[in-house]
Amino acid sequence: MSEKLDAVKEKCAVALKKAKALSSLFLGPQDVLAVDIGSYAVKIILLKQEGGNITLKAWGYLPLNLKPEASPDERKMQTINSLRAFMIEKGVKIKEAATALSGNSVIVRYVKFPRLTKAELSATLMTEAEPFIPFDINEVQLAFHILNEIIEEGQKKMETVLVAAKKDLVASRLEILQGVGLNPTIIDVDSFALENVFEKIRDAKMEAGATLYLNMGHLVTNLSILESGVTRVVRDIFISGNTLTKSITKALGVDFAKAEELKKAHGIIVDAAEKEKALREGLREELGVSQAVTAVIKDLVGEVHRSVDFYLSQGPERSIGRIVLMGGSARLKNLSKHLSTELKVPVGVLDPLAIFKELPPALPLELAPAFGVAVGLALRRNKDWL
Ligand SMILES: Nc1ncnc2c1ncn2[C@@H]1O[C@H](COP(=O)(O)OP(=O)(O)OP(=O)(O)O)[C@@H](O)[C@H]1O
Ligand SMILES: [Mg+2]
Repeated sequence: MSEKLDAVKEKCAVALKKAKALSSLFLGPQDVLAVDIGSYAVKIILLKQEGGNITLKAWGYLPLNLKPEASPDERKMQTINSLRAFMIEKGVKIKEAATALSGNSVIVRYVKFPRLTKAELSATLMTEAEPFIPFDINEVQLAFHILNEIIEEGQKKMETVLVAAKKDLVASRLEILQGVGLNPTIIDVDSFALENVFEKIRDAKMEAGATLYLNMGHLVTNLSILESGVTRVVRDIFISGNTLTKSITKALGVDFAKAEELKKAHGIIVDAAEKEKALREGLREELGVSQAVTAVIKDLVGEVHRSVDFYLSQGPERSIGRIVLMGGSARLKNLSKHLSTELKVPVGVLDPLAIFKELPPALPLELAPAFGVAVGLALRRNKDWL
């Protein structure tokens, strides 16, 4: 009996160790409803994992159709209403939910702390973390994950991932989920959720070099650099789909809705012959969109370069082998081609549906890139508990 108890304790300890979540993992059923609450659309995934076979039990793509000037309360109400309608329509009975945070109210830092036990660090976390957190320490919820122990300048230290999220952001997420009768048991970080997808579909024969992830959503682009499955850089960049659309509104003098439409229709002109044709035929919209979008991508490329330079400066023999795009904005026409030319690395769009042996027929392929975070969240519980 006590052996059994020890085994359970051990399993819990392993699960907790693996967790990079802000909230704790609680014992409970394996199924968890993954709810990625974006500023543009809510993405929902419910998986079933049986005998190594993963199947899709339910999914939802709920565009919020909010005006850019919508207040936080309007945003919250619209999100709750959309989610509630989805749960009723699909007859979703599950109560446990996983969600993820990103943006300027969340900070991830890789910090070297003096060697402490987990309990000691928990007890002194606020004091130890304060110098690394650019927010009032009393206004954030903190979590940490010890990566490994090292010796630096003769002293034993531990490399730790520190996550701080503003309490009001956490509270607002909890309010949304609880508002539709869900019990949020996992609160993760977008970039960490994406790691799960990568881990699941990583090609063992992949060539050398780290993988740089760009999850381009609407307000935020999550950037992370993973080396042999270990995250080395995580940051959020505030150049994303919304910035592209805004740039089009200015360049072409159209409203936001029209600019969205034009962005999705045209994207970037990369081919010289196509550009010449557009100029010859005076295709004002195509040229205007391409120019407006390219100017924004130039700023994004600058930010990517900064992160890559930082990563390369951290150790010898480091290199970026590839860039993987995700998020709704990864669908921008010719974005991968353009980024590949600008950054001189192969760029591809990640399909999170590759976790399935058979493609779920119901989920439209063109929506797939937007589901990275939701699929990663849905896998998390499965991964941690198996
Ligand atoms: N075909 C397309 N071409 C270009 N952009 C597209 C296309 N389809 C969707 N988008 C853009 O994708 C963005 C939404 O992506 P996503 O669903 O990943 O964002 P989000 O998760 O809601 O936002 P965030 O996480 O930044 O708050 C929007 O800016 C939208 O205009
Ligand atoms: Mg998102």
